[in-house]
Amino acid sequence: MRDSIEHAVDLLRQADHVVVFTGAGVSKESGLPTFREAQEGLWAKYDPEELASMEGFRRDPEMVWAWYQHRRTLYGDVEPNPGHHAIVELEELVPRVVVVTQNVDDLHRRAGSTDLIELHGNIYDFKCLDEGHRLKLADLEGQAETPPRCPHCGSLVRPDVVWFGELLPAEALDRAFWESRQCDVMLVVGTSAVVQPAATLPYEAADHGASIVEVNPNPSGASHIADVLLQGPSGEVLPRVLGELRRQKGSL
Ligand code: OAD
Repeated sequence: MRDSIEHAVDLLRQADHVVVFTGAGVSKESGLPTFREAQEGLWAKYDPEELASMEGFRRDPEMVWAWYQHRRTLYGDVEPNPGHHAIVELEELVPRVVVVTQNVDDLHRRAGSTDLIELHGNIYDFKCLDEGHRLKLADLEGQAETPPRCPHCGSLVRPDVVWFGELLPAEALDRAFWESRQCDVMLVVGTSAVVQPAATLPYEAADHGASIVEVNPNPSGASHIADVLLQGPSGEVLPRVLGELRRQKGSL
C-alpha cells in the first residue's frame, strides 16, 4: 500500500486539475449503506431499483415518499467522514478540483466541497410531476398529505433525483464529461462503476490522457484501467494520501 500511496501522491503533486468521481462507498464510513447492499429493517423486502423508479412511484406514491423520507432522516443523522474531508482538503493543494458524485446524500456539500456536480440529483430537492416545478422542503411545510402537492399547480411532488430509466440532468452530465476530458488525474472513489452513463467517465478521462487512481476496498468496473489501485476504505486511505501530499508540497 505504501508504494501505491507514493505513486498516487506523485501523480497528484504534478496535477493542475483533478476530478474526484465518487459513489456510495465514500459515505460508507459515515454509516450509510452502499447502494447495492441489502436494505435494512422495514425496507429489507423491497428492491431499491423498484422503489427508485417512476413505475414504483405511480404504483404506490405514498410508499416511495416514505422510503425517501426514511433516507432523508438517515442522511440527516450522519456526518461527513474523513474521506469527504480529505477531498475538501485537496482543494488547498491542487489548483482545480471538481467533485463529480453519483450520491444524493448531500455529504460532499456538507463537508465543504466547493465545485460539486451531482449527477443523480440531491435528496433534499423536489419537483412536481406535471409541470416540473422545482421545490425545496420549506415549500412543502405544513402539508399533511404524503406525497405533498405542488403549491403552484397541485400535482404530486417527487424527489428530484434520477430514477432508473430516467435521463441524467443534461447540464451536469455535459460538464462532468467536459471536466473528465480535461483533467490530469481522476480519483475514482467508492463506486462500483457499473451504472451508465456515469461509469463511462473514468474511460473518458483515461482516453484523454488522465491518470486514474482508484480508492475502493474491492475491484470495480474501472479497476482495470486504473494506474494506481488503493485498496481500502476511503475514510482511511484518502487522509493518508492527503497527509503525504501535504507533506511533500510543504517541503517543496
Ligand atoms: P454501489 O453500491 O454500486 O457501489 C459501492 C462501492 O463502494 C463498491 O464498489 C464498494 O466496494 C465500495 N465501498 C464499500 N465500502 C467502501 C469504503 N469504506 N470506502 C470506499 N469504497 C467502499 O454504489 P454506486 O457505485 O454509487 O444510481 O452506485 C452507482 C449508482 O447505482 C447509484 O448512484 C444509483 C445506483 O443505480 C441511481 O440511483 C440513479
